[in-house]
Amino acid sequence: MCGIVGYVGPRQATPILVGGLRRLEYRGYDSAGLAVLDPTGHLEVSRSVGKLSALEQLLERQPLLGRVGIGHTRWATHGRPSEANAHPHRVGGVAVVHNGIIENYLDLKRRLQATGREFSSETDTEIVAHLVDEALNAGAPTLVEALRVALSQVVGAYALVVISERHPDEIVAAKNASPLVIGIGVGEMFLASDVPAMLEHTRDVIFLEEGEIAELRATGVKLSNLAGEPVTRASRRITWDAVQAEKNGYPHFMLKEIHEQPRAIADTLRGRLRLDTADAYLEGYEIDPRPLRRVVLVACGTSYHAGLVGKFMIESLARVPCEVDLASEFRYRDPVVGPNDLLIAISQSGETADTLAAVKEARARGGRVLAISNVVDSAIPRVSEGTVYTHAGPEIGVASTKCFTAQLAALALIAIHMGRRSGHLAAPEAAKLIAELAAIPTKMTTALTTLGDLADVAARYRDARDFLFLGRGTNFPIALEGALKLKEISYIHAEGYAAGEMKHGPIALVDDGVPVVVLAPRGPSYEKIISNLVQVRARNGRVIAVGTEGDQQLAEMAECVLFVPDVSPLLQPFMTVLPLQIMSYAIAVARGNDVDQPRNLAKSVTVE
Ligand code: G6P
Repeated sequence: MCGIVGYVGPRQATPILVGGLRRLEYRGYDSAGLAVLDPTGHLEVSRSVGKLSALEQLLERQPLLGRVGIGHTRWATHGRPSEANAHPHRVGGVAVVHNGIIENYLDLKRRLQATGREFSSETDTEIVAHLVDEALNAGAPTLVEALRVALSQVVGAYALVVISERHPDEIVAAKNASPLVIGIGVGEMFLASDVPAMLEHTRDVIFLEEGEIAELRATGVKLSNLAGEPVTRASRRITWDAVQAEKNGYPHFMLKEIHEQPRAIADTLRGRLRLDTADAYLEGYEIDPRPLRRVVLVACGTSYHAGLVGKFMIESLARVPCEVDLASEFRYRDPVVGPNDLLIAISQSGETADTLAAVKEARARGGRVLAISNVVDSAIPRVSEGTVYTHAGPEIGVASTKCFTAQLAALALIAIHMGRRSGHLAAPEAAKLIAELAAIPTKMTTALTTLGDLADVAARYRDARDFLFLGRGTNFPIALEGALKLKEISYIHAEGYAAGEMKHGPIALVDDGVPVVVLAPRGPSYEKIISNLVQVRARNGRVIAVGTEGDQQLAEMAECVLFVPDVSPLLQPFMTVLPLQIMSYAIAVARGNDVDQPRNLAKSVTVE
């Protein structure tokens, strides 16, 4: 999740590129850089760590002059944020910017190193600069041909943009899975990851599609596919304004992030699952579960709820006992931790104070620590032995959505990895689960489409005093998460409960002023949860049921039913959380609240 820009035309490229990057900063902001071809065809690169303002200061001191250029604002996936890892990556006369992940980068790096090539960064992107340079040296007649040769070796997700001293009047770009838009000006052309970067210059754009390559010159653009066959597509006129465009047309970042979940999960799983070995790989981090006494999952807020689902996954697949603890409790309760305990610290931001303190506490007592984080090289990964990064991209809405489901994906990877090594997860079962996991993004897309905006549900329940959320098994943590989401942004009091506990207290609250959300997808506890639902109905409770597509019996029993696609119980949270996120969002909007920045809350809590 990075921001890319490009310009070719009669004007100075630098101010246009920097202006474009400023509009893309929401996509990531740990470092930034530009590469510009000067009037003699000489390539200059300028990069700097931190926000875009640091790069701007550098450019004031050392201006880059030229009329062809590319730029990048980075959200690290491989390698910590540093100047060496910032884009553009330059090899010889070639400069490359990239958004995405090159899956086979280690194999390619080894091959390139064997030919004597040296690397100056830890990134996967630098590989592409080497591959293009290699192809040009081997006689590729055009830059687009050299890019094609490079792409024939690359597996992964990318938006790649390349310039070269040997072809100083053009930019070439390729797209596979990561977005890329071309802006058509008069005698000039633009390129960016997203429309807002170019709206002040042009409203006529072409969205590149999978496997397409574009050659941009001041005079126009030529599209082709990976096989070199020409592609034609008419441009589209953008009618929305820049702020709307940053949100991709969504009214709030939270809604955009809800809809980004299929992509966030696909990116988190990408390159880490293999069907042939029926295994999950954690980028060099190996967990041998056999000597482990237990796993302790620690986190705060929404990440804690992901931990509760993780416990089900790890215990069921690896048969290693798990505890889940709130980081703020763990750190102060003199925890029993030793070398045979693995602490898994889950944090979107990677910097939550209590989670960081819990990690330090565990390490001081000799425990092993693995982090799950969405921010590369943030504080928690830095003090952990290893990190499984979620690739959800920056989350702007304070109420976490896409990072939660990306954490579930990371936990599923860890559970499969441990299960295979503990001997409890046989290859056929693992292969089945891997196939099902790989299908989750598509099923989520279907669910998001069929659920719609739930504005009618919001209109019906927006004035409720309290809400109850009930679930069992893997859906108990989702009941907690549903209640948290609603509290955070609608300011309606809500409680999540294990459905079996309902009769031990919360049932006293049930009346027609308290809607009860019952998570009842088909699965081993279906009959039990239906009994709970009936008990609520018997007390005049208003039931909103979340169930499996096509469950007519459930539809007849509830005042309102929200259907999700059928998946196996261990993976149900990926589906059942979706209607709860959308419903909370819709209720908050109906109540006129500030959805992205709810009162009193902060996105990352770096104080106790
Ligand atoms: C804050 C945020 C929550 C988040 C929690 C933990 O409360 O508002 O959305 O779940 O912190 O944050 P972390 O970055 O550690 O996941």
